[in-house]
Amino acid sequence: MIPPFRSEFTTAQKAAYLTAAAAVLDSGQLTLGPYTQQLEERFAVTTGTRYVTAVSSGTTALEIAFRALDLTGADVLVPANTNYATAEATIRAGARPVLYDCALTATADAIDAARTRATRAVVLVHIGGHITPELDSITRYCTTHNLLVVEDAAHAHGSATSDRPAGTLGAAAAFSTFATKALTTGEGGLITTNDHATAARARHYRDQGKNPDGLNTVFGSAWRMPELSAALGIVQLTTTPTPMQRGHNLLRAYAQRIHHPDIAVPFEPRHRYSGHKAIIQLPDHTQRENLRAHLQSAGITPARGVYDHPLHHQPALGLTGNYPLADHFAQTHLCLPLWPGLTPDQQHHIIDTVNTWNLPKHS
Ligand SMILES: Cc1ncc(COP(=O)(O)O)c(C=O)c1O
Repeated sequence: MIPPFRSEFTTAQKAAYLTAAAAVLDSGQLTLGPYTQQLEERFAVTTGTRYVTAVSSGTTALEIAFRALDLTGADVLVPANTNYATAEATIRAGARPVLYDCALTATADAIDAARTRATRAVVLVHIGGHITPELDSITRYCTTHNLLVVEDAAHAHGSATSDRPAGTLGAAAAFSTFATKALTTGEGGLITTNDHATAARARHYRDQGKNPDGLNTVFGSAWRMPELSAALGIVQLTTTPTPMQRGHNLLRAYAQRIHHPDIAVPFEPRHRYSGHKAIIQLPDHTQRENLRAHLQSAGITPARGVYDHPLHHQPALGLTGNYPLADHFAQTHLCLPLWPGLTPDQQHHIIDTVNTWNLPKHS
């Protein structure tokens, strides 16, 4: 069976990591040391941002960004179609998530429809590395209404729309470096911003809100990234092609070579993609399930949906409402296998299987 995802490192990457790990152990500095700093510097180059803060997860990256932008007490617009973590981090930062309807990418109309008097920020989630084609109109809307844009770029390392990279599109962005991400440190997160004060606050929150004199002056936590984790991230950023470049090329091959009248492969040729997810869209749920069974019978395990349960169905959040775009997307999309080491033969077999799928006669 071809799995949906596999965590894979090359022999050269493993060797480089073991050398770096030994150096970390010898140094005696296991956290907030030179590897964290180097990862931050390299990711600043990857994203074209001034300041990067490495933290313990994508969820804490979001919480810290919300706190650093002083959004406690505010309403924050969050798409209904996103990971539980986007809303969880909003709540943990003391803000209120207000949902806007959203399929794969955000629209200005849906944001406008959801805005409340207390709204101070809008979260754009680049699902699977896809940046909204309405970025310019959303940015204009946010400027007019004095709203901050915060990127949940958990999936979007190396993604860009035209020449504008994820991580630079708002006041701050939160990336995840969880085990399945294109750039991974096992667990971890990276906050990007071009604003010095926001970056300084993020660093303060990351280390228990502690001042050099030992006084804890804001409500931070133990949100640091271990040096051993940072070393793993550096190994991937210094390999060419990077996992993100490999992912982009694999996604482009899916987009160029899947030719089926009932399957859409979202891919904008002028964009760059992280290659985190190979999302395809079907006309309805029955056909999605039929294609899933067809792939499985050919030895291919497609991934679950990016999110099978939009936020208004997540019991822990208690957020209710009617979000038809999010519900339809959850029911009708599928993720094809994708990881940087997917071989040309494997991808050929997947594409061939998709292209020869016979659409059921009724739905
Ligand atoms: C959109 C989004 N935001 C945030 C997160 C949380 O990241 P982490 O698992 O690193 O906390 C995820 C996790 O995949 C995600 O998909």
